[in-house]
Amino acid sequence: MQVALKIWRYDAITGERALREYEIDAPEEATLLDCLDIVKDQVDGSLAFRKSCRMMICGSCGMRMDGAAVLACKTRMYEIAESGHVPVISAMGNLPIVKDLVVDMDPFWGKIRAVQPWLEPGYSDPGEKEHVVSQERMDVIHKESLCIMCGCCVSECNSMEADPDFLGPAALAKGMRFVGDPRDRATVERLESYSGEHGIWDCTRCYFCNERCPKGVDPRDAIAKLGAEAVKEGIDSDMGAKHAKWFVTSAKTTGWLRETELVPKTQGVAKSLKEVTFAMGLLKHGKVPPPFPPHVAKHVGEARALYDLVQEQGRDGASGITQAEKALGNLEHAGDGGDSAARGPYGSGSFAKPFLPGEEPTV
Ligand code: SF4
Ligand code: SF4
Ligand code: FES
Repeated sequence: MQVALKIWRYDAITGERALREYEIDAPEEATLLDCLDIVKDQVDGSLAFRKSCRMMICGSCGMRMDGAAVLACKTRMYEIAESGHVPVISAMGNLPIVKDLVVDMDPFWGKIRAVQPWLEPGYSDPGEKEHVVSQERMDVIHKESLCIMCGCCVSECNSMEADPDFLGPAALAKGMRFVGDPRDRATVERLESYSGEHGIWDCTRCYFCNERCPKGVDPRDAIAKLGAEAVKEGIDSDMGAKHAKWFVTSAKTTGWLRETELVPKTQGVAKSLKEVTFAMGLLKHGKVPPPFPPHVAKHVGEARALYDLVQEQGRDGASGITQAEKALGNLEHAGDGGDSAARGPYGSGSFAKPFLPGEEPTV
């Protein structure tokens, strides 16, 4: 097949940047990485890009196609070439470009190091027997363990674009991999560290990292798990944590999000006084419902029962999110004959099935 590519070339020494177009003949099964290899071998040997495994394992070949991060070795070109589209290939975002499609990964590794990506078992003598961990506990970090550290999530992160010091999706997913590991003994210290400035609460929840991760790690979900675990441990001094807690309290007490109280509950009374003029303007234009008497939803009892259920069954924290992940996965793959369809989100080796107040728990 004939494949046409436009590639952003960059020379860090001269600062020269140019969009060059290449046309090559490639086999129908060729990936983007194969096509780049052909360009380098047959057309222009000066083209720079990283690669190693060619099978989505090493994480070297992250780059952007038409502005979105991809693994070049995972991206098949047949349909793109058939459609006549000429994709634009460029280096990943949020990392300095060294040459053409090669970025400097030092800032990426610095963030990974900052979350202390190693197990802190709390003992120096490993003993003679192995430490067995149940499948249920490992399920909590199953997705986080799949990370190949390619940087595609970092490339697309809005918060990192605004704040280069933000720990970012890859490092936080790695952090969750250890927070959720039952063998780790530094959970509280980790959660305190990750909850600080530039940490978990600075994520804007844009979900681009989930969308672009080529391995299904879903870093945003990992950050949600960290947030849930931090609140569960009482690490909630950050405004983001207070914000999340108020959502829960508000839903539990009235079944609605009481936005008029959101600012004082999150920022404190002193800081919210500064916003009084702004709030009065909103009130005048009918944009804010009067805080008194509070509007209580007709079926608020259901919201309260749901809250009690989560508490009673210990589904707060990361395990509740994991359970939802498994249930969604089961829905998505139900009937495909695979393991997840056979196993389901509950039952042996997994979580107990949810039960309503008054019902008997079933396994
Ligand atoms: S979370 Fe996904 S996108 Fe991010 S570094 Fe890991 S594998 Fe790559
Ligand atoms: S969801 Fe958060 S971590 Fe993920 S890309 Fe958006 S801002 Fe970054
Ligand atoms: S070359 Fe290893 S992940 Fe693409």
